[in-house]
Amino acid sequence: MRPLSVTPSSNYCSPATQVFQRKRMRILGDYGNWRKEEVKLLKLLGPPLVAAVVALSPISNPPVSMGETVDVDKGGSLFSRACIGCHAAGGNIIQPGATLFSKDLQRNGVETEEEIYRITYYGKGRMPGFGENCTPRGQCTFGPRLREDEIRLLAEFVKSQAEQGWPNVE
Ligand code: HEC
Repeated sequence: MRPLSVTPSSNYCSPATQVFQRKRMRILGDYGNWRKEEVKLLKLLGPPLVAAVVALSPISNPPVSMGETVDVDKGGSLFSRACIGCHAAGGNIIQPGATLFSKDLQRNGVETEEEIYRITYYGKGRMPGFGENCTPRGQCTFGPRLREDEIRLLAEFVKSQAEQGWPNVE
């Protein structure tokens, strides 16, 4: 059996097409070279460039306050879950004289994180306590309880929000 012709007649190109194809080859050739140059350049620049990007990136080089920001976010979401029903925007819909603003906290002797923690854990008056070991039962929430570290975070959050006049929670 005769092998298939390598240059079948259907591949015949007019001279014009041949010129075009040669040009294209040249362009592709240039492109190929350019790619090689580019790869060389990237290889050359690569490590320092990557190093610079990493060094400047806020993720690998967090500002000092980043840990706090994350905690405030977490405190904020806890607050939205457990406290906002009565204390929206740091107010108090049940007892208007006991808001979470500094002036009320101070007047009511609840301005330290320790005191905020205690009230949140054990409750007071018509505010239910949220601690896991809150007693007596009648003073405690019937909803889900909060872990100690969550209450600590909430106390920090309330304190810092109070100091800033509750700018972050609507
Ligand atoms: C069911 C409504 C309600 C919920 C929910 C609630 N509180 Fe209260 N909160 C109150 C009331 C009422 C007071 C006033 C208690 C008093 O002084 O007798 C208060 C007082 C406070 C105070 C003291 C404020 C002051 O100026 O004396 C703090 C701090 C506080 N709450 C934090 C929280 C936190 C944190 C949460 C969420 C874990 C929360 N509260 C959830 C009703 C609520």
